[in-house]
Amino acid sequence: MLSHPLAEGAELRALEPWRAEEFYAFVVRSGVHLTPWMPWATDTDEPAKAERWLQGYADAQARGGRRVYGIWLDGLLVGGTGFATFDARAGVCSLGAWLAPEARRRGLVTRAARHMTEWAFETRGMSRVEWAAATRNEPSIAVAKRLGMEREGVLRSALTLGGVRHDVEVWSLIADRR
Ligand SMILES: CC(C)(COP(=O)(O)OP(=O)(O)OC[C@H]1O[C@@H](n2cnc3c(N)ncnc32)[C@H](O)[C@@H]1OP(=O)(O)O)[C@@H](O)C(=O)NCCC(=O)NCCS
Repeated sequence: MLSHPLAEGAELRALEPWRAEEFYAFVVRSGVHLTPWMPWATDTDEPAKAERWLQGYADAQARGGRRVYGIWLDGLLVGGTGFATFDARAGVCSLGAWLAPEARRRGLVTRAARHMTEWAFETRGMSRVEWAAATRNEPSIAVAKRLGMEREGVLRSALTLGGVRHDVEVWSLIADRR
């Protein structure tokens, strides 16, 4: 996938290491709005770390594993989505997403995640797509609901964010039960 249209002026594209400078600029602009839920936004505090983060995804993708995409709105990188895990042998993958505040409430992540889910099921023959979100992260849980996912349960105290422990809800779509 070189690029996939999401809406007027909005596109989903592979986010590769050669875009590290652009990605770092996005984190500088918008990272503070992601840090409550996305620890990597705090850790990416210099350009070399942005490049390493993207290279980690590129290396994993080359081995058939996790992968990351960017969302551009009117030519500006405003967010992204990723398969945080992608285990083709097990047929199981998990999705994640983030947006700068100005790109929210337009359905961009829901559309991107739908496209990725279709690709996972139809092109890659995956059986299960997961979405995990801290119980208190209502906008994230709303995405899982919009994707038609089913809530499977809560992993109690499964995540630490900014020194605070969180319960995590697990949601999923199953290929042959959609
Ligand atoms: C989670 C996050 C990506 C959700 O962003 P979002 O903009 O609410 O999600 P979407 O892009 O799917 O947009 C949905 C919103 O657009 C609206 N919308 C407009 N057109 C739409 C369309 N065609 N399809 C779906 N939704 C549409 C929806 O009504 C909804 O707005 P509402 O909440 O006011 O009802 C965002 O809150 C975020 O980046 N949070 C910080 C990082 C984070 O927590 N990531 C998830 C970790 S698990």
